[in-house]
Amino acid sequence: MKVFLVAGARPNFMKIAPIYREALKRPEVECQIVHTGQHYDYAMSQTFFDDLELPEPNFFLDCGGGSHSEQTAKIMVAFEKVCTTERPDLVIVVGDVNSTLACSIVAKKLWIKVAHVEAGLRSFDLQMPEEINRMVTDSISDFFFVTEQSGMDNLINEGKDKNSIHSVGHVMIDNLLHQVDKLKECDPHSFSTSAAKEEAGEYIFLTMHRPSNVDDLITLTSLVNTFNTIAQEQPIFFPVHPRTRKMLDQSNLQLSENIVQLSPLGFKEALYLWKDAAVVLTDSGGLQEETTALGIPCLTMRHNTERPITVEMGSNTLVGNKSDDILAAYQHKKKTSKKGTIPPMWDGKSAQRIWDILLTAATLWPASTDKVRP
Ligand code: UD1
Repeated sequence: MKVFLVAGARPNFMKIAPIYREALKRPEVECQIVHTGQHYDYAMSQTFFDDLELPEPNFFLDCGGGSHSEQTAKIMVAFEKVCTTERPDLVIVVGDVNSTLACSIVAKKLWIKVAHVEAGLRSFDLQMPEEINRMVTDSISDFFFVTEQSGMDNLINEGKDKNSIHSVGHVMIDNLLHQVDKLKECDPHSFSTSAAKEEAGEYIFLTMHRPSNVDDLITLTSLVNTFNTIAQEQPIFFPVHPRTRKMLDQSNLQLSENIVQLSPLGFKEALYLWKDAAVVLTDSGGLQEETTALGIPCLTMRHNTERPITVEMGSNTLVGNKSDDILAAYQHKKKTSKKGTIPPMWDGKSAQRIWDILLTAATLWPASTDKVRP
């Protein structure tokens, strides 16, 4: 079975890594990596391939930059060419970035089966580009691999066939557990932040890149003032995403000296920092889940989450992006840190489950895919 495994942006790379590793153990699978190039900086892309032990992609589409429509369109045109010549039996897309949307549409129109890993998540907030990507991808996928109960419920409410929805746990947590083990073998002094980490004592780890937090100057100003207030109590490590960097550079905002501004970090160095943080402050989707898996208190600067299990069971609290709310939640978190429990099947075996299901299904395919679009 020839399978394309698609990745484009930073949060995709950690999700494809365990799927790829597991594919190597299955002789019946020929798994090829397609990198769309949505993220193209070394720090946003190549360092992840290195850290996550991913090989060079089989196909690199070089479609970074541009508006959402430009980016999506470029990826679609480039991916269609590769699919038309290579004719994979299956395309696996992960998560909710523009590459996920673009490649699932292309594959489906070529009558190639589509498996969506991390399906069914919904924030019900159509102002988030990722929500549109999730909804469209799920509207045309053949296989839905679900990380938490809400994903299952949402897909059933949307009328999907129960037999195509599979609760498998989370490949992102497969990767995290693998990397936590690998980190034990690393010399901590090999990280550029090791001296600063030792000196910091208790610290906060901060990430922020959502358009809703960084694109509007009033919101960004209020958030920077909030971080400066928190930094009077505890140092903050802040790897700055390119989108956020651009907005900060265009403004006159000053970050406190107690905020250690860093370039985007590779997976290992980011983990090395956040796993020992007193609190993680973020607007990321993935970190909400990863902190839940390791029981690190997390404050999410959003009003909603498509990953409600991290709040219901895990260590995550939604705090929105208003200064008073963030400061109150921070003070509360310092006193009573919420460790939470680990959601079902977040056990490092999700990729194994996914391939078991796909390979069983593939034995039935010839009958249903005998008509292939020319
Ligand atoms: C994308 C995903 C988001 C994910 C995030 C993680 C979509 C809609 N959004 O958002 O879900 O959480 O990745 O990082 O797909 N840039 C660089 N270098 C890079 C990559 C981007 O300078 O390597 C710049 C781009 O030119 C652009 C900005 O950063 O100006 C945003 O990049 P883009 O890929 O459009 O979206 P993200 O905000 O990274």
